[in-house]
Amino acid sequence: MEAKLKDLSDRRGKITAGGGPKRVAAQHDKGKMTARERIEAFLDPGTFTELDAFVEHRATELGMADVEAPGEGVVIGYGTIAGRLVYLFAQDFTVIGGSLGEMHAAKICKAMDMAMKVGCPCIGINDSGGARIQEGVDALYGYGNIFYRNTLASGVIPQISVIMGPCAGGAVYSPALTDFTVMVDKTSNMFITGPQVIKAVTGEDVTAEALGGALVHSEVSGCASLMFADERATIEGVKKLLSYLPSNNIEDAPLAATGDDVARACPGLAAVIPDSPNKPYDIRDVISQVFDDGDYFEVQPLYAKNIVTCFARLGGRSVGVIANQPKVMAGVLDINASDKASRFIRFCDSFNIPLVTLADTAGYLPGVGQEHGGVIRHGAKLLYAYSEATVPKLTVIVRKDYGGAYIAMCSKHLGADQVLAWPSAEIAVMGPDGAANIIFKKEIDEASDPAQARKDKIQEYKDSFANPYKAAARGYVDDVIDPSATRARLASALTMLLGKRESRPAKKHGNTPV
Ligand code: HXC
Repeated sequence: MEAKLKDLSDRRGKITAGGGPKRVAAQHDKGKMTARERIEAFLDPGTFTELDAFVEHRATELGMADVEAPGEGVVIGYGTIAGRLVYLFAQDFTVIGGSLGEMHAAKICKAMDMAMKVGCPCIGINDSGGARIQEGVDALYGYGNIFYRNTLASGVIPQISVIMGPCAGGAVYSPALTDFTVMVDKTSNMFITGPQVIKAVTGEDVTAEALGGALVHSEVSGCASLMFADERATIEGVKKLLSYLPSNNIEDAPLAATGDDVARACPGLAAVIPDSPNKPYDIRDVISQVFDDGDYFEVQPLYAKNIVTCFARLGGRSVGVIANQPKVMAGVLDINASDKASRFIRFCDSFNIPLVTLADTAGYLPGVGQEHGGVIRHGAKLLYAYSEATVPKLTVIVRKDYGGAYIAMCSKHLGADQVLAWPSAEIAVMGPDGAANIIFKKEIDEASDPAQARKDKIQEYKDSFANPYKAAARGYVDDVIDPSATRARLASALTMLLGKRESRPAKKHGNTPV
């Protein structure tokens, strides 16, 4: 037995060493941890159980018969984060560049299958040159199996992709199918075709960073949900994200002991809103006063900044907050904001996280670019996502809420369970200036002083429509409240709605606008 135990220990030692000291040093020189170091940094100390360490590839062509690939270039297993079970896989760049062959993919699929079976989040750490070229169609088969599982797991367990190196070619579609894609600044990139192929096909010169770095995917493409400065910060960020999420779709998110009194008044809220409805302010100043301990966690903070999507807590319960941001483009809804918010809403609804919407928007963004870019179908996503959602839905109309955007921002008509409005709310088909110009056009044109007449008519419109009381008179707004009571009223509504049960007509699935 002794000899056998030594053999086991030698074998395991070889696998644990990955691609060997030189390649590990090269990895460290790039500011990157190894696959095993990353897993250790993610998990509670001593909780990692590795599976499939002894898996080997069975490729023989293009010189592969003699190639040893410790661990098959990917480490998989389970452990706990803050005491909660997770499955992980981490591609090992030190082994054939973390490239994905048939057996590498089989290991990832095993981790995903187990996460589904036990109902826990699956975290995938990507650091790979993509499909292992020598394995040809077997590598593609492996990717296909992963994409298929990503899709089946969607809405069942949270799936988080952490990009900590290259993620090239079709490999990018696994992160794209998961719930969150988190990138590390400067050391990660994602693209379908790299700079060399782009140069050959289109003649464009671009660096890997400018093409698919963390910043460009956070600000421009919207493919990254979050980015952090380095790997440690990324891991801490993902842990914080997980703290808001349930382990699967039949559980509730963990209740946090925040200790912040739900009945706490928020006297500072009234001062956040400028007197002039056209003046910008930062909606995050509202969010930080309303939710527990002033704490919230933004998703896609650099993308479509005209809408804020974040997780926060109310009485220790996780909520998803969707808020127009008047500080950016007057909080209008456009293509990107609709995409961002819809995806967030659908995630929250899949995982039983109640929605709180803060509305202050001038409407949908006008413009040829928006129309030709498909604002109709993209904007429809928001209507669809809110209508489809059956979690508790609470809305606070803070200030402007006009036209289609009023409907879209979780109005009563899309199934909001409770709509509260501040006295500063203006709910109407359109803003006073535009409305007066249309409905009083004749009177204004024919007046002896058209400028004064326009002013008067705008005021007349404001007096009758730019308030919350017309909507409250119809019951579309449940109550008009003092802003300082917002936290207490939302918390009370959330508690009242804990037992909410709402079903939808039986169907295979809806046809979400895409
Ligand atoms: C096999 C690969 C590989 C791959 C890297 N390696 N990518 N082996 N298949 N896809 C190997 C390298 O040969 C090298 O082996 C080791 O990994 C480290 O790679 P380096 O190139 O030395 O590292 P670096 O300079 O850091 O460059 C990393 C890289 C580069 C930018 C990722 O390796 C690269 O461009 N790789 C190919 C990327 C790509 O085009 N992938 C798409 C494949 S097609 P040695 O033995 O020398 O250390 C695809 C389609 C999937 O993925 C479709 C799914 C639907």
